Amino acid sequence: MANTELERSVKDFISVRDLSPAELARLLDLSAGLKADRRLRRRAPTADALAGRHVAMLFEKPSLRTRSTFEIATRELGGDTLDVPAQFAEGIREPLQDVARNLERWIDAIVVRTYAQAKVMMIASAAPNLHVINALTDDEHPCQALADMLTLRERLGSLRGRTLAYVGDGNNTATSLAHAAPMLGMSLHVASPAGYELPAHVVEEAMRSARDGALVRLFRDPREAVAGADAVYTDVWASMGEEKEAAARKLVFADYQVNRALMAAAPGSALFMHCLPAHREEEVTAEVFESPASVVFDQAENRLHTEKALLLTLLS
Ligand code: CP
Ligand code: NVA
Repeated sequence: MANTELERSVKDFISVRDLSPAELARLLDLSAGLKADRRLRRRAPTADALAGRHVAMLFEKPSLRTRSTFEIATRELGGDTLDVPAQFAEGIREPLQDVARNLERWIDAIVVRTYAQAKVMMIASAAPNLHVINALTDDEHPCQALADMLTLRERLGSLRGRTLAYVGDGNNTATSLAHAAPMLGMSLHVASPAGYELPAHVVEEAMRSARDGALVRLFRDPREAVAGADAVYTDVWASMGEEKEAAARKLVFADYQVNRALMAAAPGSALFMHCLPAHREEEVTAEVFESPASVVFDQAENRLHTEKALLLTLLS
């Protein structure tokens, strides 16, 4: 019997929740294949998969990894990119819906980094023929979670029954990890100071698509969160758009630094993860960042392979 869940087409990737657990697992399998094929360069079987297709980039916040990897991914799949200046996301020269309705007449997909998640959703609903990819909003960072899950799978094998500990701000990165990890059977422990916890609705959403008994659990004490964890993840204390809060947040998060003492509270085999950019001696010490446990540049590399898989999944 046909599995309709696997056969439906996914138009947009605004949240990890746009994929079912089976679709997420399949996307990671595809990513691993694309990673292996990259050495073939133009002889890779997908080298012309997006020939004649265009993917636009609309970034209202800075980006090194996300923008570079989406541009490289598009080109390595034989497609072309279009830079849409950030000012057009403001909706001042013309409404954002009209920008989207113009773009869908010319191009196939748009990668959007902005502040409000509602803006990405507005583009997606205004343009039914345009594939919209969330390249980070204040709420979610779903493309990061794809690369992180591939990195974990490479290091740990099956994620079923494993635990990821996230220490710090219950932010966009933490939200997308909470959506992704439990879909693959991996529990997520999140340790945050009061007032900076993962939102309750995110925990509920994550638990709805959890598999194999995976849990999302919130902690106050980072040492409790990392006990027994297979990997320890952190992110900046002040995200893009929160720069004015940076000094106050340094005080609030002071006890949430990932350092040698915190890593010692985790199993000796625990990995260290960070989406980057990292602020050494704030959320992580240089010692842990540079330690053999650190897989941060694997995560960065895997942005490319998972985004290629995402583009193929949406556009094929
Ligand atoms: N991790 C990440 O999204 O990096 P950029 O902000 O450089 O894209
Ligand atoms: N939470 C960070 C992630 C950067 C990739 C931010 O939003 O700035």
